[in-house]
Amino acid sequence: MSFSKKVVSQVREEFDRKLSQKKSEQQARISEAELRVPELISVNAELGKTGIKIFKASFGDPSTLSERIKAVKDENLALQEKRASLLAKAGFGADYLEMKYDCSLCNDTGKLKNGTICSCYRNALIKAQIEMSGFSRVIEKCSFDNFDLNYYPDKEKMAEALEYLREYASSFSLSSDSVLLVGGTGLGKTHLSASVARELISKGHFVICESAENIFSNYNKERFAQDESDLICDKYLECELLIIDDLGAEAVTQYSVSCLYNLINTRINEGKPTILSTNLSSNDIRKIYNDRITSRLFGEFVIIVFTGNDIRKLKK
Ligand SMILES: Nc1ncnc2c1ncn2[C@@H]1O[C@H](COP(=O)(O)OP(=O)(O)OP(=O)(O)O)[C@@H](O)[C@H]1O
Ligand SMILES: [Mg+2]
Ligand SMILES: [Zn+2]
Repeated sequence: MSFSKKVVSQVREEFDRKLSQKKSEQQARISEAELRVPELISVNAELGKTGIKIFKASFGDPSTLSERIKAVKDENLALQEKRASLLAKAGFGADYLEMKYDCSLCNDTGKLKNGTICSCYRNALIKAQIEMSGFSRVIEKCSFDNFDLNYYPDKEKMAEALEYLREYASSFSLSSDSVLLVGGTGLGKTHLSASVARELISKGHFVICESAENIFSNYNKERFAQDESDLICDKYLECELLIIDDLGAEAVTQYSVSCLYNLINTRINEGKPTILSTNLSSNDIRKIYNDRITSRLFGEFVIIVFTGNDIRKLKK
């Protein structure tokens, strides 16, 4: 599992913040109840000493240990009953002073007793990772399962593309190939790359999926960055899989072309795969981008060609 550092620290902070907020809400309920029912003060104080009492009871004659522990527990139960009846008399629920956790498995700590992470924490990481990917809305609605082959005149060929990318996602590693998805508009390139992202993110991979336009506009912003907090493009090199959607739709400048070259080249050198989608023809690609880019795209990427009719129109 490899969620990005930023996502992990963001979710950790979110959990810590939520837990401390719940604790202060509990404290406010206790103060409120103690103000209305002053008898609760001594009961709560006594209950708060249970841990110490058990600790003290564990010393002494071992033959009577269980009796001493039982005495503490009985006292604790009696105090709890007393507290519940005091609360009830004042019109509070019996659990009014308890902590109210969202997750009963980990009590909102994110960690289970055996030290492993709780599913609620994992889900929060996945959600944050998808949001960070910039493609959350697309990723939510696209999956391999709702990719319908019936839209394509050449069903067999598209079935191969689907199978290739499904297998790609299920056996992904840093040694996976880089892939170039080419074909006209509305043929499912973004749909399938988002499906790859969705599956990998749910397995905890660090995937960034963004439009070329967005990526290069971020590089442009970073170029004029004033301080470190503006360095927003590290993620494009750090992520395990970078999906650059719709190459060719960005404003192509000398700077954007050199960024693309750096991105592709650095990722190849670091052994990190990239998926690119474009509706440029190979001739257009050669015309727009320089030889150093095209030789890498056509030499090192697995090329998948999408054919058929615009599914956006068909769906209307
Ligand atoms: N095989 C499919 N089954 C179901 N829906 C599909 C399929 N292919 C595409 N779609 C849907 O059609 C719309 C267009 O598809 P998508 O955005 O993936 O096209 P694209 O190839 O990326 O087009 P463009 O080059 O314009 O970006 C999306 O809403 C997508 O979910
Ligand atoms: Mg697209
Ligand atoms: Zn949990």
